[in-house]
This record gives sequence, structure tokens and C-alpha cells, in this order.
Amino acid sequence: MAEDLQIIKGSKAEQYEALIPQIKGLLEGETDLVANLANIAAALKEQFGWFWVGFYLVKQDQLVLGPFQGPVACTRIRKGRGVCGSSWASASTLIVPDVEQFPGHIACSSLSRSEIVVPLVKNGAVMGVLDVDSSEYNRFDETDQQYLEQVVALLNC
Ligand code: SME
Repeated sequence: MAEDLQIIKGSKAEQYEALIPQIKGLLEGETDLVANLANIAAALKEQFGWFWVGFYLVKQDQLVLGPFQGPVACTRIRKGRGVCGSSWASASTLIVPDVEQFPGHIACSSLSRSEIVVPLVKNGAVMGVLDVDSSEYNRFDETDQQYLEQVVALLNC
């Protein structure tokens, strides 16, 4: 497997369409969850240049920081807290156009302006979340939701 990522220009959908098969290739034959989460975070960061992209994993009653790309971040988040903990509690994707308007948003960085959080679901239970932060307002929409849900579905958690 070639480890070089092909970065493409184009619409958001075109970028995801080119990236997802490459992510699939990166995960092929690798069963280690941390290795796969690390490569997904790196691939998304390289293609989209987002401020922060990474994973939190459910450990007992908290989300604990996992593989990520970007500035240092909060290590533990309780269920129902912030955008990540709310996505865990509701087992649903949350799109936040302006993080300051989200009650209880956890500001790991004051530079984060908008956010999308996608839960990783296995056998009906949330085992973690993919969290993406942008330094611009209103950066994420249903297109991101649709494709990022496809990305996490590639993980056989
Ligand atoms: N803002 C998130 C916390 C995680 S950091 O953004 C990396 C939240 O409110 O859950």
C-alpha cells in the first residue's frame, strides 16, 4: 500500500469522494483500532486542513482523548457534556455552526468557531466520537455529515 495521500481540489463532495476510497485502502488489512483512527485523523486533516480533527473513545463513564491532529485538547469529557458528550448521549451527529451558541460547549481552544461530532456506533452502542473543529463559523453541513458518517462506518470498531 502506498502511504502517500492524493490531495484533490474541488467541491466538498468531490474531495470526500476522492478521499474515502483512499481511507478504505489505508484501513485494509489493519485491525488495530488506534492505528486506524490515527490514519483517519491524519487523512482528514491533510485533505481539509481543519483546525482540529480527532477521536474520543468511551472508557467507563467518560470520553477519553484518542488519536487526533491539531493543537492539544481536553482529555476527558463526561456523557452529556459539550458537543462530544451530547453526541454520545443522543447517539447522533451534531452540527454546531457557532460553538458559542451551544449550551455547555467545551472550549478546548478559543480559536474553535464551528464543529461537527459524529458518533462511532457498534452493535447499537456508542464507543466513541469523531470530532472536527474549524476556526471559521458555519463550516459544516449535511454534506460533511453524510460523508463523515461513511468514514466512521469504515471502522469495524
Ligand atoms: N468542543 C468539544 C470538546 C472537544 S475539543 O473541541 C477537541 C465539545 O464541546 O465537546
